[in-house]
Amino acid sequence: MDIKRVLLIVGGGIAAYKALELTRLLRKAGVAVRPVLTRAGAQFVTPLSLSALAEDKVYSDLFSLTDEAEMGHIELSRQTDLIVVAPATADLMAKAANGLADDLASTTLLATDKPVLMAPAMNVRMWEHPATRRNRATLQADGVQFVGPDEGAMACGEFGEGRLAEPQAIFEAAMAMLAGPAGQPLKGHRAIVTAGPTAEPIDPVRLLTNRSSGRQGYAIAAALADLGCEVTLVSGPTALPAPRGVRRVEVETAREMLAACEAALPADIAVCVAAVADWRPETCGVAKVKKGDAAPTLTLVENPDILATLSKSKTRPKLVVGFAAETHDVEAYAQGKLARKGCDWIVANDVSIDGVMGGDRNTVAVITQGGIERWAPADKAEVARKLALRMAEAVS
Ligand code: CTP
Repeated sequence: MDIKRVLLIVGGGIAAYKALELTRLLRKAGVAVRPVLTRAGAQFVTPLSLSALAEDKVYSDLFSLTDEAEMGHIELSRQTDLIVVAPATADLMAKAANGLADDLASTTLLATDKPVLMAPAMNVRMWEHPATRRNRATLQADGVQFVGPDEGAMACGEFGEGRLAEPQAIFEAAMAMLAGPAGQPLKGHRAIVTAGPTAEPIDPVRLLTNRSSGRQGYAIAAALADLGCEVTLVSGPTALPAPRGVRRVEVETAREMLAACEAALPADIAVCVAAVADWRPETCGVAKVKKGDAAPTLTLVENPDILATLSKSKTRPKLVVGFAAETHDVEAYAQGKLARKGCDWIVANDVSIDGVMGGDRNTVAVITQGGIERWAPADKAEVARKLALRMAEAVS
């Protein structure tokens, strides 16, 4: 068997010590680890510990004659199967998102065409800063995968999201990416994913819509594509970039969403994550509704149910998955939806939890005919990865 190789970039953060445990886990699994330590990283772990655990030299200097002569930054990227950045600091993410290359780590990230896994770690406010969010979205659109960060108490004395994922979780994500074609169990399969809100016109300037950000649906589309699936993402209006390797069809209304889904059939999997408006205004005139003496009355008519329609379709996908966003009695409503819509699974989430709508984390329960499985709170990308693996098991 080929030995798999990981280039491990260790950024500067208090969590850098966990990179040592990650190195140990990878080595134990027979993976070759070549460490790149940033200048800031070297403030937290010593090259000696990293080198001893990795059983390789530690590379740190872009301009070192010996490093460049032995193994230049291009060669470092060539001679690896996967780059793991742990901890990925806000600075490393910002550099990578913008293509900056002023040290060995950032130059290697720019010079590579290999898969990249980032495990961010930073103070909660840095993580939540719009700049970091933008950088993460850019990196995701560039195909970079993320694991974590976790929520919890931080070294800076604060509590929140920003803790480095546990070494075991980073190790598992890295191993899944290293699995290569064997890690692409959905190769040759097709999936349709609906995501985002729908927008139903009232008149040429007004809409009926909702707060869905599309994040969970986009993460599922990306996770399915990572497993080799051919994915059509039918998306309502969102601010998100299309994930790499996914065909996105942009729609506005529920009826357009249904038509785009039907056009994408046949498929093996359909995942309806979109927050479809149940109702639409009966008419949408060409003229703007003007303010009169009395408040206007909106007459609403029911929209088609995309999930139910796909579940009953003559060319029904083998696996049809719905989502149930609820604010109360989550599991009871989800059970009802499973029966009513005729789908195979309902993934229920409690949107009354602060930060779920529009946020990065989600707490879900998966309801099937066989019962209910409650998952621990996790990053939406991790929920998506886990769900995609489950879907792969179910259809293959
Ligand atoms: N759904 C759909 N088309 C609709 C309405 C909902 O495809 N017109 C899908 C959603 O994408 C989701 C599931 O059905 O996968 C459940 O959506 P939800 O809005 O929670 O259910 P509703 O049937 O609208 O029930 P309620 O509004 O009473 O909760």
